[in-house]
Amino acid sequence: MPASPSRSVSPASGRRRYAIVGTGSRHELYQDGIEKTHTASAQLVGICDSNPGRLEVARQRSRVNGAPMPPGYPAADFGRMLAEAKPDVVIVTTTDAAHHDYIVRAMDAGCDVITEKPMTTDADKCRQILDAQRRTGRRCRVTFNYRYSPPRSQVKDILMSGEIGEVLSVDFHWLLNTHHGADYFRRWHSHKKNSGGLMVHKSTHHFDLVNWWLGAMPVTVMATGKREFYTPQMAHRLGLQGPHDRCHTCPESRQCGFFMDLAASPSLKALYLDCEKHDGYFRDRCVFRPDIDIEDTMNVMVGYDNGATLSYSLNAFNAWEGYTVAFNGTKGRLEHTIVESVYVNGTESVQGGIAADGVSTRVIPLRSEARDVVPWTAEGDHGGGDRLMLEDIFLPELPADKYLRAADERAGACSILVGIAANRCFETGRSVKISELVPGLARPDYAPMPPRDAPLPMPTRSV
Ligand SMILES: NC(=O)c1ccc[n+]([C@@H]2O[C@H](COP(=O)([O-])OP(=O)(O)OC[C@H]3O[C@@H](n4cnc5c(N)ncnc54)[C@H](O)[C@@H]3O)[C@@H](O)[C@H]2O)c1
Repeated sequence: MPASPSRSVSPASGRRRYAIVGTGSRHELYQDGIEKTHTASAQLVGICDSNPGRLEVARQRSRVNGAPMPPGYPAADFGRMLAEAKPDVVIVTTTDAAHHDYIVRAMDAGCDVITEKPMTTDADKCRQILDAQRRTGRRCRVTFNYRYSPPRSQVKDILMSGEIGEVLSVDFHWLLNTHHGADYFRRWHSHKKNSGGLMVHKSTHHFDLVNWWLGAMPVTVMATGKREFYTPQMAHRLGLQGPHDRCHTCPESRQCGFFMDLAASPSLKALYLDCEKHDGYFRDRCVFRPDIDIEDTMNVMVGYDNGATLSYSLNAFNAWEGYTVAFNGTKGRLEHTIVESVYVNGTESVQGGIAADGVSTRVIPLRSEARDVVPWTAEGDHGGGDRLMLEDIFLPELPADKYLRAADERAGACSILVGIAANRCFETGRSVKISELVPGLARPDYAPMPPRDAPLPMPTRSV
């Protein structure tokens, strides 16, 4: 049932009331956004986590932010938080596989939801979210911060301008280096039941970018995936006796180039090492353990409803971090590359920061000179995308966004379903239709019906 309008703005202060569930590293962006940057439009009225230690770290963060300390609720009391704190909006920043439960319960209680990507991790949970949204009429926003990074918005702008014509195919290759890439193999992400694997957890960003850039819906997926680097055999090939259980107690910490010292970083120590006693979660598990079940090398082909095709790869042990993407259009080609600086979650390193001179965007018409595009820029985490996205969330009266960067559950579904289909391809070796996973998926706002064949200018004659 839709909530009454009075719920969307707190009558006493005119500020929207936010609660956050999942108070790990990523939630800090939202807590600081509410308590430091957007105090005029937002207030934090409750926080919830399964780990009481991290809950307390978040409460102390409010004190440092100069904001009132919000009440903290254990995960079992999420419903009580909704009843007592009466949030207008619940922000979901738990581990991926737990998102759906909080999204559905929050919408059923009459709240809007903002959820971190990936919206969820499998097709059944995806259907539960889509059903809950239809049932309640509440808003579900998926925070695809990559869309807001200025060079990626600029790619959207060029494609919308029609300069390269209709895009018939895309080549997209994403590289994670052995700092950031290795980190997924240490944390909860290293098990598919928590994260859906990198095809869902990480590639949801990339599949969403392509869906949005093309303004199209994915239809079919073919994929292969394997793990050959983060394995026990690789530990031996690198001269180690291991794998061992975790870095903190590792007998080979001096020899291992993948050693992570949780105790040496104040933020990692406070968030994870000091909180282990509550739930036994180790954030520094050995990247070569045999129980890891996610892939490190993935190749995917996607067919879209407008006829375009995508050839995509993700590799998690590369020499540099970033991506190259090329759009092959009826009037020319757009090539775009970003080299990112190193990022390790929970540390002070810049999240997805773009290295100096790291952006290159080029338009190459079919029969004339190429043009190098001066990239749009912004300061901040994730290439400036995080700050711009927070403004879009928290500032009340922004002009309409011609790039439609705010994403809802339809876009959330379209992106994860490509990764979920890829996971199924890994298991079965056959191609998968998105409609097999979720029938009748509604079109996202950025994907109008595919256009009919439009007339094209004849390319100039070759000499
Ligand atoms: N958009 C981005 O660029 C970006 C970047 C980093 C993380 N994320 C997303 O943010 C989310 C959180 O990631 P993180 O890096 O902060 O991880 P994290 O491990 O630091 O934090 C996760 C938190 O969730 C809590 N939690 C786990 N299960 C729970 C449950 N059932 N109920 C309540 N709390 C529970 C944990 O105790 C922990 O505090 C993930 O969905 C991740 O994909 C997005």
